[in-house]
Amino acid sequence: MFITFEGIDGSGKSTQANFLKNQLQNDGYDVILLREPGGTIISEKIRDLVLNHRASSVSPLTEALLIASSRYQLVNEIILPALKKNTIVICDRYIDSTIAYQGYGRGINISWLNEINKYSLMHANPELTYLFDLKVEDSMLRIKNKNKDRIELEGKDFLSKVRNGYLKLAKNSKRFILLNAMDSPEKLKNKVYNYYLNKKNENF
Ligand code: TYD
Repeated sequence: MFITFEGIDGSGKSTQANFLKNQLQNDGYDVILLREPGGTIISEKIRDLVLNHRASSVSPLTEALLIASSRYQLVNEIILPALKKNTIVICDRYIDSTIAYQGYGRGINISWLNEINKYSLMHANPELTYLFDLKVEDSMLRIKNKNKDRIELEGKDFLSKVRNGYLKLAKNSKRFILLNAMDSPEKLKNKVYNYYLNKKNENF
């Protein structure tokens, strides 16, 4: 199964992705947890280029193309071979981050983003996506003391557009599970696992 975790900054998705990985490993499955942009040597270098806050003059299209090339490398080097071996793949951010951040956030044409990402995805489409939703004010509070990356520095209006974009995506696709990121980590952990079990049963 291919599972992705999505949400605006400070939503706690990375912690929950880690919890699910540990749970599934305890259940006896082979699982890998990846992050985007990143996950391969070259993709981590691209991550550094894209998120390094000193590189302030990156055009939105450059940003989208860099992320798409990082994704192509990750899909071909890691995700597709893992899925072939029946390893469960969990990815902390994936294509929906591009539609939410570069599409709704930066205003890049979404059809164009989908078109270039068709090449990156190579049909590696997630089957289950958790969206950790929270108010922009709560997100900003949670990341207040963090050393912010270039995209996190964009501020409130930008994050608002990203959040609304995510909510639109979740509304239009059955693969999404919408979760309240303000719930306790323990409650979220149980919900995430139970939704996974439901999905697994559906697939049988
Ligand atoms: P994130 O995964 O939240 O890492 P950290 O926990 O270290 O902050 O941050 C990655 C950043 O990359 C985040 O600001 C969103 C951005 N991003 C995009 O803009 N588009 C994408 O397609 C992806 C995968 C990430």
